[in-house]
Amino acid sequence: MSETKNLLVTGGTGFIGSNFIHYVTAHEPSWNIVNLDLLTYAGHLENLSDIPNDKYSFIKGDICDKELVEKILSDYQIDTIVHFAAESHVDRSIEGPGAFVQTNIVGTYNLLEVARQYWKNNGGYDGKRFHHVSTDEVFGMLKKDDPAFTEENPYSPNSPYAASKASSDHLVRSYQHTFGLPTTITNCSNNYGPYQFPEKLIPLIILNAVNGKPLPIYGDGLQIRDWLFVEDHCEAIVTVLKNGVVGETYNIGGENQFPNLEIVKKICHLIDEYLPESPHYPHEKLITYVKDRPGHDFRYDMNITKIRRELGWSPKFSLEKGLAFTVNWYLNHQDWIENVTGSKAFSDWIIKNYQKREK
Ligand code: NAD
Ligand code: TYD
Repeated sequence: MSETKNLLVTGGTGFIGSNFIHYVTAHEPSWNIVNLDLLTYAGHLENLSDIPNDKYSFIKGDICDKELVEKILSDYQIDTIVHFAAESHVDRSIEGPGAFVQTNIVGTYNLLEVARQYWKNNGGYDGKRFHHVSTDEVFGMLKKDDPAFTEENPYSPNSPYAASKASSDHLVRSYQHTFGLPTTITNCSNNYGPYQFPEKLIPLIILNAVNGKPLPIYGDGLQIRDWLFVEDHCEAIVTVLKNGVVGETYNIGGENQFPNLEIVKKICHLIDEYLPESPHYPHEKLITYVKDRPGHDFRYDMNITKIRRELGWSPKFSLEKGLAFTVNWYLNHQDWIENVTGSKAFSDWIIKNYQKREK
């Protein structure tokens, strides 16, 4: 049984944050969790409706609200911050970068500043941890045969999303270097799994395929991502919280590189298998090429030697297993899908993002 921790999870109502809260509840039953989430379009309380209240509390609020964050650190005697809250969708960062600067950069600064002052004045930094959850996109893009990114690669972010995450990583690093705040950072590749909002590739394709709608492929669909099942990501973060070295960054990835088109075809084949009577069978015929994303990064790939060697973590889910689980999950959670996609804001986004891509 591991030592008790009092966690502040930011953005715990979103995709990875809610999976993380499920993971911790199941695997670290002595840890207490406070989830601070603004419930933007990406946050959904139904993602956590089955979490018991004895060790879990939810607070609706903004990571940019200094007084609120300080009150939470004090009220709940927080010793560990796991920072997920962010604007996370590249296409939205192209449409409107301002929210990304505010939440991802100013919000992270705010959390760091409150943690630095509050912990320093209340018992010191011993036993404390600020863990920042970041992305592979900070490293820019790779060509087809380039070696995977290591922790030593220079930052070279290409989208406003990636630039805002890179800025936040730099702030975290500087608070460690200058003030001695006990921080760790993880940079992870593309996640997929339950509770992912259907604006991202995998859930969007599942949803559209089931409903007989076009499956939009940006450009030629040959862009490559490294896919990681979300539960593996959660396990990696817990590993870093327990055994990671303060001041270090760790790459996390699935060692599952595939072009987008192949991922979409795999999803179609799974849905063909699960819904052989569907009027949209075979689902591959719904694939539709649309205008590319501006500045679209060609390839990401993570070298995970460091976390494997130093902390003994490696992904457990093959893409086949993770994708089959995920497609099944979406097919069996129609209520969840209807709840999170039923708003006008979601249909407005779909119209806005895809009308401009019609060829
Ligand atoms: P998400 O968009 O699903 O969830 C973000 C959550 O943050 C939502 O619940 C939202 O309500 C909340 N939030 C937004 N602004 C807030 C604010 N100002 N104050 C409090 N809460 C706020 O995102 P995700 O996909 O779960 O990503 C979580 C983190 O992981 C992000 O930092 C992202 O950069 C990083 N990441 C994501 C991926 C991926 O594939 N999704 C990969 C690597 C890293
Ligand atoms: P996404 O899920 O938005 O993640 P990210 O941009 O952070 O990698 O997109 C994954 C890949 O899929 C990316 O190369 C863009 C592409 N894509 C499409 O081809 N069509 C779509 O409708 C979406 C949302 C993404």
